[in-house]
Amino acid sequence: MATMADVARSAGVSVATVSHVLNGTRPVLPHTRQAVLDAVDALGYTPNTLARSLVTSRTRSIGLAVSAISNPYFTEILQGVEAAALEAGYSLLIADPHDDPRHERKVVQLLHERRVDGMIVAPSAEPGDLVGYLRRHAVPTVFLDRLVDARATEDRAPGDGADGAAASPSPPCFDQVCAESAAPTALLVTHLAGLGHRRIALVAGLPGLSTTSERVSGYREGLTAAGLAYDERLLVSGNSESAGAERATADLLALPDPPTALVTANNAMTIGALHALRRHGRSVPDDLALCCFDDFAWADLFSPRLTAIAQPSRELGARAVRVLLDRLAEPDRPPRTVRLPCAFVHRTSCGCPEEPGSRSGATASSTLAEKGTAS
Ligand code: HPA
Repeated sequence: MATMADVARSAGVSVATVSHVLNGTRPVLPHTRQAVLDAVDALGYTPNTLARSLVTSRTRSIGLAVSAISNPYFTEILQGVEAAALEAGYSLLIADPHDDPRHERKVVQLLHERRVDGMIVAPSAEPGDLVGYLRRHAVPTVFLDRLVDARATEDRAPGDGADGAAASPSPPCFDQVCAESAAPTALLVTHLAGLGHRRIALVAGLPGLSTTSERVSGYREGLTAAGLAYDERLLVSGNSESAGAERATADLLALPDPPTALVTANNAMTIGALHALRRHGRSVPDDLALCCFDDFAWADLFSPRLTAIAQPSRELGARAVRVLLDRLAEPDRPPRTVRLPCAFVHRTSCGCPEEPGSRSGATASSTLAEKGTAS
């Protein structure tokens, strides 16, 4: 098997120059660089990444721990992570913690033991152990999609006051990347209110996730903005999954004064809500108007076509990689939280008439920064 020394000899340069060309660690004159690449080609040289890792203490790999990888939202995030990592010359090790805090802690430890340079994690609803581990081992980490209040999950040393007064909370020490959640949910509510609905329900996600609490806040903000009273019976939990949303929607339909409009807080729960509506013989939007958080490839094929909030899923993944690479390059930089805007995809499940041209795929879509108010 050809070695780096063979490449250097064949190209007539030093081993250090070969290394700089292959690792991009220093600029090399174009003709020298080409000579090295030609020699690599001719000799069939492949770098020994294990040997390189022993020298550099870097593996040029990223650990990715994301639950529900089969959910199209997370699949697209994964595609964004993969593309950005590849572009930067990093490979990925992937684990699915199944939103289980104990499993999450275990898979993150396994990834860390494989000496990934850093990690991207969509944390579970109870991330205390995870945060403790990452903090103790100083693992460069970006939290993705769900935000973590690192101060609330602070490890408490024995003897700390029960109220935490004796503990000295450190500032949030993780980078985070997520999409806007509250304003887009408020927009769905005000949009439905603008169409005359007075009883608008929310099927919310798993308690403990920041995406859930932010979408609930957005729901309440939307009601307030529309001058509608909050009725706690119209806020139900679908636990972020289809079966939970099916049960929760059935509960809403059984109310003495059921809602006339429904907002579902993620794509899986939209499917569950649609199952319940079909089972109870209700049609959308005549019996119940529907607006969804999360757009997905076939949302446009439903009849009626689903009015939805589209999250920038690929960009979320790609941005998480770039934020992690910045952290690796500059370990002491202050942590940051990046929030990306969503888009309002206006179709017909909300009860609005078909817009001209939209059947040919020209669905009306606008980023929330541009839209801001109900139409
Ligand atoms: N977070 C944000 N959006 C989502 C999720 C989630 O866990 N699942 C489906 N869409």
